[in-house]
Amino acid sequence: MKAHNFWHPVLKTKDIKRQPVSVNFCGKELVIFRGENGILGALEDCCPHRRMRLSKGTVRGNRLVCPYHGWNYDRDGKGTSPSTSGLRPCVKSYDIAEKYGAIWVKELHSTAELPVIVNPEFHQVCTLHYRIQAPLELLVDNFSEIEHSCTTHIFLGHDLEGISRVESYLEVTEDAVRIINKGPQRKIPRFLELLLGYKRGSLFVGELEVLFSPVHINIKNYWISPNDSEFRKGEAQGAVFFNPVNDQETEMMMFSFMSSELAVFSRFLNPLATFLLDYETKLDKKMLEGITNKNISIVGMQLGRFDKVLKLTRERIKSLYWQKDVISLR
Ligand code: FES
Ligand SMILES: [Fe+2]
Repeated sequence: MKAHNFWHPVLKTKDIKRQPVSVNFCGKELVIFRGENGILGALEDCCPHRRMRLSKGTVRGNRLVCPYHGWNYDRDGKGTSPSTSGLRPCVKSYDIAEKYGAIWVKELHSTAELPVIVNPEFHQVCTLHYRIQAPLELLVDNFSEIEHSCTTHIFLGHDLEGISRVESYLEVTEDAVRIINKGPQRKIPRFLELLLGYKRGSLFVGELEVLFSPVHINIKNYWISPNDSEFRKGEAQGAVFFNPVNDQETEMMMFSFMSSELAVFSRFLNPLATFLLDYETKLDKKMLEGITNKNISIVGMQLGRFDKVLKLTRERIKSLYWQKDVISLR
């Protein structure tokens, strides 16, 4: 299977209004539009007449109208030309769906399922969308290792004093690479401790599952007591989906959820968690964009104990995600 056969989130639902929007779908430019009946369409962002960008057009009824000469298309890409009645112009269309506050697309007729990214009892906090000037593999490296949290982040993960005591476990299956990190929680503000039910001395656990159809990472964070591993409240879950633009640029959609016991505070917690997550993710972005050599090869790097995952994810991205017809992105 190739990348375009898998569902990718390309736009936040709230970012589409009456106007069509141009999006990236693994290097292809698509136009997303919503008809007056509320139903979404995804078409190649290029009019087959004289190659105008359809995303510069307008929606009339349930059809997308090209701004150049007024040819117009339904959500299946079937067109008509006002000037030449017998013509049947046609634009390539894509499967489209809405879930978790995002719009997802894939190739028509592929049998891939929409990813299920969280326990349904969890409450969604936010959907965040970024474009980062770095290749897909470097983004996956960043979000699948915890070592950078000490110096890149402010609230997430561990601190430099505790990182040498963080235990890291790796499990590899045919379709996933799983990483569990467990170690001393970094110091966080007292009000956050109280709010999240954190007890001092608890170990912070991060469970990461890197999957490749499409490339995304499921994340679970929670605390356990150091002695009996008793489960503590405050579990947060999330997922990060990657959508490469080209070999130097990648889009990323992040979904964040909290356990239902925290959901009672959601009016207060949602804006706070959204602000913190966005702030921390922009720190990741800044760090990734500052890497001096963004070649995806790991040859010549001097790697540490948290970097075993780099080789494993590269192998799977290559075999499970990229295929010959999209290799031009590389
Ligand atoms: S280019 Fe679209 S109608 Fe002419
Ligand atoms: Fe990070």
